[in-house]
Amino acid sequence: MTAPQPLIAGNWKMNGLTASLAEARAVAEGVGATRARVAICPPAVLIHQMADALAGTPVLVGGQDSHEEEAGAFTGDISAAMLADVGARLVILGHSERRAGYRETDGRVARKVVAALRAGLEPIVCVGETLEERKAGQALAVVTGQVRGSLPSELAGHRFSVAYEPVWAIGTGLTPTTPEIEEMHRAIRATLVESFGPAARAVPILYGGSVKPSNAEEILAADEVGGALVGGASLKASDFLAIVKAAG
Ligand code: 13P
Repeated sequence: MTAPQPLIAGNWKMNGLTASLAEARAVAEGVGATRARVAICPPAVLIHQMADALAGTPVLVGGQDSHEEEAGAFTGDISAAMLADVGARLVILGHSERRAGYRETDGRVARKVVAALRAGLEPIVCVGETLEERKAGQALAVVTGQVRGSLPSELAGHRFSVAYEPVWAIGTGLTPTTPEIEEMHRAIRATLVESFGPAARAVPILYGGSVKPSNAEEILAADEVGGALVGGASLKASDFLAIVKAAG
Protein backbone atom coordinates (compact mmCIF):
# COMPACT_ATOMS: atom_id res chain seq x y z
CA MET A 1 0.00 0.00 0.00
CA THR A 2 1.50 3.35 -0.99
CA ALA A 3 1.87 6.05 1.65
CA PRO A 4 -0.81 8.74 1.61
CA GLN A 5 -0.06 11.93 -0.31
CA PRO A 6 1.02 14.41 2.38
CA LEU A 7 -1.14 17.41 3.19
CA ILE A 8 0.43 20.60 4.52
CA ALA A 9 -2.31 22.90 5.77
CA GLY A 10 -1.92 26.35 7.28
CA ASN A 11 -4.39 27.35 9.98
CA TRP A 12 -4.36 31.11 10.20
CA LYS A 13 -6.75 31.06 13.20
CA MET A 14 -8.01 34.60 13.98
CA ASN A 15 -5.20 36.30 12.10
CA GLY A 16 -5.15 38.15 8.81
CA LEU A 17 -6.83 41.07 7.05
CA THR A 18 -7.34 41.60 3.34
CA ALA A 19 -3.73 42.82 3.14
CA SER A 20 -2.64 39.31 4.17
CA LEU A 21 -3.89 37.91 0.86
CA ALA A 22 -0.43 38.89 -0.41
CA GLU A 23 1.05 36.14 1.81
CA ALA A 24 -1.28 33.58 0.24
CA ARG A 25 -0.28 34.77 -3.23
CA ALA A 26 3.38 34.46 -2.23
CA VAL A 27 2.75 30.86 -1.13
CA ALA A 28 1.18 30.04 -4.49
CA GLU A 29 4.04 31.67 -6.36
CA GLY A 30 6.72 29.89 -4.35
CA VAL A 31 5.20 26.44 -3.93
CA GLY A 32 6.91 24.89 -6.95
CA ALA A 33 7.14 21.15 -7.42
CA THR A 34 6.09 19.28 -4.30
CA ARG A 35 4.60 15.89 -3.59
CA ALA A 36 2.36 17.51 -0.95
CA ARG A 37 -1.09 18.97 -1.29
CA VAL A 38 -1.01 22.47 0.14
CA ALA A 39 -3.90 24.35 1.74
CA ILE A 40 -4.45 27.59 3.61
CA CYS A 41 -7.35 27.98 6.05
CA PRO A 42 -7.84 31.71 6.66
CA PRO A 43 -10.58 33.38 8.72
CA ALA A 44 -13.94 32.80 7.00
CA VAL A 45 -14.27 36.38 5.80
CA LEU A 46 -11.14 36.00 3.66
CA ILE A 47 -12.08 32.71 2.00
CA HIS A 48 -13.90 34.19 -0.98
CA GLN A 49 -11.13 36.58 -1.95
CA MET A 50 -8.40 34.04 -1.23
CA ALA A 51 -10.10 31.40 -3.36
CA ASP A 52 -10.28 33.92 -6.21
CA ALA A 53 -6.65 34.94 -5.70
CA LEU A 54 -5.47 31.31 -5.70
CA ALA A 55 -7.69 30.04 -8.52
CA GLY A 56 -5.61 28.15 -11.06
CA THR A 57 -2.80 27.54 -8.54
CA PRO A 58 -2.25 24.25 -6.67
CA VAL A 59 -2.94 25.89 -3.28
CA LEU A 60 -6.34 24.97 -1.85
CA VAL A 61 -8.41 27.09 0.52
CA GLY A 62 -10.20 25.77 3.60
CA GLY A 63 -12.34 26.91 6.51
CA GLN A 64 -11.54 26.59 10.23
CA ASP A 65 -14.95 25.40 11.42
CA SER A 66 -18.49 24.94 10.12
CA HIS A 67 -21.88 24.31 11.71
CA GLU A 68 -23.61 20.93 11.78
CA GLU A 69 -26.88 22.34 10.42
CA GLU A 70 -27.33 23.42 6.81
CA ALA A 71 -29.04 26.74 7.63
CA GLY A 72 -31.19 28.36 10.28
CA ALA A 73 -31.29 30.59 13.33
CA PHE A 74 -27.68 30.22 14.49
CA THR A 75 -26.43 33.77 14.92
CA GLY A 76 -22.78 34.16 14.04
CA ASP A 77 -22.34 30.64 12.70
CA ILE A 78 -21.38 29.53 9.20
CA SER A 79 -22.55 26.40 7.41
CA ALA A 80 -20.39 24.04 5.40
CA ALA A 81 -22.40 24.86 2.27
CA MET A 82 -21.58 28.56 2.77
CA LEU A 83 -17.85 27.78 2.93
CA ALA A 84 -18.05 25.63 -0.19
CA ASP A 85 -20.10 28.32 -1.95
CA VAL A 86 -17.28 30.88 -1.64
CA GLY A 87 -14.53 28.50 -2.72
CA ALA A 88 -13.41 26.44 0.29
CA ARG A 89 -12.47 22.85 -0.49
CA LEU A 90 -11.54 21.67 3.00
CA VAL A 91 -12.56 22.45 6.56
CA ILE A 92 -10.81 21.99 9.90
CA LEU A 93 -13.21 20.47 12.46
CA GLY A 94 -12.81 19.74 16.17
CA HIS A 95 -9.75 21.93 16.69
CA SER A 96 -8.82 21.94 20.39
CA GLU A 97 -9.47 25.68 20.50
CA ARG A 98 -13.08 24.92 19.48
CA ARG A 99 -13.34 21.91 21.79
CA ALA A 100 -12.05 23.96 24.75
CA GLY A 101 -13.47 27.42 23.96
CA TYR A 102 -16.87 26.34 22.60
CA ARG A 103 -17.27 23.04 24.45
CA GLU A 104 -17.45 21.03 21.25
CA THR A 105 -17.85 17.36 22.07
CA ASP A 106 -16.81 14.37 19.92
CA GLY A 107 -20.48 13.89 19.01
CA ARG A 108 -20.86 17.45 17.82
CA VAL A 109 -17.63 17.24 15.82
CA ALA A 110 -18.95 14.04 14.19
CA ARG A 111 -22.18 15.84 13.21
CA LYS A 112 -20.15 18.69 11.75
CA VAL A 113 -18.15 16.15 9.73
CA VAL A 114 -21.36 14.71 8.26
CA ALA A 115 -22.56 18.22 7.32
CA ALA A 116 -19.19 19.06 5.76
CA LEU A 117 -19.28 15.90 3.63
CA ARG A 118 -22.80 16.76 2.50
CA ALA A 119 -21.49 20.14 1.31
CA GLY A 120 -18.64 18.47 -0.57
CA LEU A 121 -15.90 19.66 1.81
CA GLU A 122 -12.91 17.55 2.81
CA PRO A 123 -12.71 17.43 6.61
CA ILE A 124 -9.48 17.72 8.61
CA VAL A 125 -10.54 16.31 11.98
CA CYS A 126 -8.40 17.37 14.94
CA VAL A 127 -7.64 15.33 18.05
CA GLY A 128 -5.14 15.75 20.86
CA GLU A 129 -4.56 15.38 24.58
CA THR A 130 -3.94 18.04 27.24
CA LEU A 131 -0.75 18.12 29.30
CA GLU A 132 -2.63 16.78 32.34
CA GLU A 133 -3.90 13.84 30.30
CA ARG A 134 -0.39 13.10 29.03
CA LYS A 135 1.11 13.34 32.50
CA ALA A 136 -1.56 10.96 33.78
CA GLY A 137 -0.59 8.41 31.12
CA GLN A 138 -3.93 8.80 29.35
CA ALA A 139 -2.78 10.35 26.07
CA LEU A 140 -3.25 7.25 23.90
CA ALA A 141 -6.66 6.42 25.39
CA VAL A 142 -7.91 10.02 25.10
CA VAL A 143 -6.79 10.48 21.51
CA THR A 144 -7.97 7.11 20.20
CA GLY A 145 -11.28 7.77 21.99
CA GLN A 146 -11.55 11.11 20.17
CA VAL A 147 -10.82 9.38 16.87
CA ARG A 148 -13.62 6.86 17.52
CA GLY A 149 -16.06 9.53 18.67
CA SER A 150 -15.36 12.29 16.15
CA LEU A 151 -15.13 10.28 12.92
CA PRO A 152 -18.57 9.11 11.76
CA SER A 153 -19.00 6.04 9.55
CA GLU A 154 -20.19 8.37 6.76
CA LEU A 155 -16.52 9.22 6.12
CA ALA A 156 -15.97 5.83 4.46
CA GLY A 157 -15.13 6.37 0.80
CA HIS A 158 -14.50 10.11 1.24
CA ARG A 159 -11.21 11.98 1.27
CA PHE A 160 -10.37 13.24 4.76
CA SER A 161 -7.48 13.56 7.15
CA VAL A 162 -6.89 13.42 10.90
CA ALA A 163 -4.66 15.98 12.63
CA TYR A 164 -2.96 14.98 15.88
CA GLU A 165 -2.39 18.19 17.80
CA PRO A 166 -1.29 17.77 21.42
CA VAL A 167 -2.91 20.75 23.16
CA TRP A 168 0.26 21.47 25.13
CA ALA A 169 2.30 21.76 21.92
CA ILE A 170 0.05 24.36 20.27
CA GLY A 171 1.64 27.80 20.18
CA THR A 172 4.11 26.89 22.93
CA GLY A 173 7.25 25.99 20.99
CA LEU A 174 7.12 22.57 22.69
CA THR A 175 6.78 19.39 20.65
CA PRO A 176 6.58 15.72 21.58
CA THR A 177 9.68 13.66 20.82
CA THR A 178 9.70 11.88 17.47
CA PRO A 179 9.09 8.47 19.14
CA GLU A 180 6.11 9.99 21.00
CA ILE A 181 4.67 11.33 17.75
CA GLU A 182 5.19 7.95 16.06
CA GLU A 183 3.57 6.06 18.93
CA MET A 184 0.48 8.27 18.73
CA HIS A 185 0.25 8.24 14.94
CA ARG A 186 0.51 4.42 14.90
CA ALA A 187 -2.28 4.23 17.48
CA ILE A 188 -4.44 6.59 15.39
CA ARG A 189 -3.73 4.51 12.27
CA ALA A 190 -4.74 1.31 14.05
CA THR A 191 -7.95 2.94 15.26
CA LEU A 192 -8.75 4.21 11.76
CA VAL A 193 -8.19 0.75 10.26
CA GLU A 194 -10.39 -0.75 12.98
CA SER A 195 -13.18 1.70 12.09
CA PHE A 196 -12.85 1.96 8.31
CA GLY A 197 -10.92 -1.13 7.21
CA PRO A 198 -7.70 -1.29 5.18
CA ALA A 199 -8.72 1.69 2.98
CA ALA A 200 -7.95 3.84 6.03
CA ARG A 201 -4.24 3.30 5.37
CA ALA A 202 -4.56 6.01 2.70
CA VAL A 203 -5.80 8.62 5.19
CA PRO A 204 -3.07 11.19 5.95
CA ILE A 205 -2.46 11.66 9.68
CA LEU A 206 -1.12 15.18 10.12
CA TYR A 207 0.92 16.37 13.05
CA GLY A 208 0.21 19.87 14.45
CA GLY A 209 1.69 21.87 17.30
CA SER A 210 4.70 24.21 16.99
CA VAL A 211 5.70 22.95 13.54
CA LYS A 212 8.28 25.33 12.11
CA PRO A 213 10.96 25.29 9.40
CA SER A 214 13.61 24.02 11.85
CA ASN A 215 11.68 20.91 13.00
CA ALA A 216 9.50 20.17 9.96
CA GLU A 217 11.90 17.80 8.23
CA GLU A 218 12.30 15.52 11.24
CA ILE A 219 8.58 15.54 12.06
CA LEU A 220 7.47 14.93 8.47
CA ALA A 221 9.91 12.02 8.11
CA ALA A 222 8.47 10.26 11.18
CA ASP A 223 6.57 7.01 10.74
CA GLU A 224 2.86 7.52 9.97
CA VAL A 225 3.16 11.31 9.75
CA GLY A 226 1.33 12.29 6.57
CA GLY A 227 1.65 16.04 6.72
CA ALA A 228 1.31 18.97 9.06
CA LEU A 229 -1.30 21.39 10.35
CA VAL A 230 0.63 24.58 10.88
CA GLY A 231 -0.52 27.55 12.97
CA GLY A 232 1.84 30.45 13.65
CA ALA A 233 4.44 29.46 11.05
CA SER A 234 1.79 29.48 8.30
CA LEU A 235 1.28 33.24 8.62
CA LYS A 236 4.58 34.02 6.89
CA ALA A 237 4.87 32.70 3.32
CA SER A 238 8.61 32.02 3.60
CA ASP A 239 8.21 29.89 6.76
CA PHE A 240 5.20 28.03 5.39
CA LEU A 241 7.00 27.35 2.11
CA ALA A 242 10.01 25.98 4.01
CA ILE A 243 7.67 23.53 5.75
CA VAL A 244 6.09 22.53 2.41
CA LYS A 245 9.60 21.95 1.06
CA ALA A 246 10.40 19.69 4.01
CA ALA A 247 7.57 17.40 2.86
CA GLY A 248 9.59 16.65 -0.29
P1 13P B 1 1.00 26.36 16.15
O1 13P B 1 1.66 25.83 14.90
O2 13P B 1 0.97 27.86 16.22
O3 13P B 1 1.55 25.70 17.38
O4 13P B 1 -0.56 25.94 16.06
C1 13P B 1 -0.88 24.62 15.75
C2 13P B 1 -2.33 24.53 15.47
O5 13P B 1 -3.16 24.64 16.36
C3 13P B 1 -2.75 24.34 14.07
O6 13P B 1 -4.08 24.03 13.99
